[in-house]
Amino acid sequence: MKNKISDAVKTDHRELEHYYHIIVNSTNPGERTKYQNQFVWELARHSVGEELVLYPAMEKLMGAEGERLTAKDRKEHQVAKEQLQEFQSTDASDPKFMDRIKELMDNLAEHIKEEENIDLVKIEELLDPTESDEMAASFERTKMFVPTRSHPGAPNKPPFETAVGLLTAPIDKVADLFRSFP
Ligand SMILES: [Fe+2]
Ligand SMILES: [Fe+2]
Repeated sequence: MKNKISDAVKTDHRELEHYYHIIVNSTNPGERTKYQNQFVWELARHSVGEELVLYPAMEKLMGAEGERLTAKDRKEHQVAKEQLQEFQSTDASDPKFMDRIKELMDNLAEHIKEEENIDLVKIEELLDPTESDEMAASFERTKMFVPTRSHPGAPNKPPFETAVGLLTAPIDKVADLFRSFP
């Protein structure tokens, strides 16, 4: 059975929504912190994975329209990364904790909807099943080597992001050892 890039990206989106719901419905600070870490970890890797695999493919295959769509996507990612950086440094007991995750998710929900209804639909039309399968594999592979915390200051386009991203990744991974996850 072949995978599809659209399914790989959508699976991440559903996971993010799942973690979000646990966070906002939880009254236990320990649980909130665990899912906060999980949410940050997933969104940081997901964003860079898209920036390094999906967006360059859209730019290459969809020409000017691809450039236009990904310019908007990268701008939205920048906003999300800044919000994520703020959220990742907010303690679960902080009164601002809930406002920050809600504000972040509000923006992200719109971005996710556009990716699923526009970007992913268009890119699948241009890929055969093998290409989509390979892109899904490359997306998953990339996610294993990228930073696991938000770094809004890092460039968001290859090849710069590859170099800067990979430099910040080992530091994040060491710090992850001291964070709690579900
Ligand atoms: Fe995105
Ligand atoms: Fe996404």
